[in-house]
Amino acid sequence: MNAPRALPHADGAPPLRVERLAYSWPNGHTALQHCTFQIPRSGLWMLVGSNGSGKSTLLRLISGLLSPRQGRIDSVLKPALVFQNPDHQLLLPSCFSDLLLSLPADLEPGKRRQAVEQALEQVGLTGLIGRPIHTLSGGQKQRLAIAGALASGAGLLLLDEPTALLDPASQEEVLELIAQLTQRAPQPLTALWITHRLRELDRADGAALMERGQVGPWIDGPTLRKRLYPLP
Ligand SMILES: Nc1ncnc2c1ncn2[C@@H]1O[C@H](COP(=O)(O)OP(=O)(O)OP(=O)(O)O)[C@@H](O)[C@H]1O
Ligand SMILES: [Mg+2]
Repeated sequence: MNAPRALPHADGAPPLRVERLAYSWPNGHTALQHCTFQIPRSGLWMLVGSNGSGKSTLLRLISGLLSPRQGRIDSVLKPALVFQNPDHQLLLPSCFSDLLLSLPADLEPGKRRQAVEQALEQVGLTGLIGRPIHTLSGGQKQRLAIAGALASGAGLLLLDEPTALLDPASQEEVLELIAQLTQRAPQPLTALWITHRLRELDRADGAALMERGQVGPWIDGPTLRKRLYPLP
């Protein structure tokens, strides 16, 4: 694996541990079976795998959107999902109103505007607090979705093909943003990023192949890319 760019998690515990996870859809189809892996420290961790291998189901289980049939998910971090299409998670008309919705319910009213501004600043959208969401570019919308995750206090970002609908420049911006957030001090984020774009693996702190509902071992991102697609 690459020399780790990420810091160890504050209390030394792995940010995420998944043990013998199993999930079957109501129609009886088993999407995950004996799925065991852990994320050893903060950083940018990527999963690749063929269509239907269970990647999105796994993120929904970790986020709590679905409940496992068997197994355990242990994490001290608050999870937040970021979807492929930001239009599926941006609910309100302006950046301000959408981010207000993401803030912890117990945050004092007097601190809310500042918290929204801070979240926008962290994703490079400073000054766009009043902008109607429909006037944002696709890349800006995706960064706003990430700001929502940050505003909610999440420490574990679960990103399901977040660059799939973006133009090449925005793909790079979103990848760079997440890479930076996973190195920020004093609380680096942990990101679990699903991709079909193999060249994104080069930016990972570790990458793993998901097959038939199971996650393989973490290996160096470029090594996994070359294994899956041997051309330079
Ligand atoms: N709502 C659903 N009801 C029944 N089966 C489902 C449902 N959603 C997904 N599945 C099945 O669960 C399995 C895993 O699907 P999942 O969406 O997790 O795969 P994936 O790895 O994310 O694929 P992709 O790369 O195409 O996004 C597949 O066999 C899929 O058909
Ligand atoms: Mg999927």
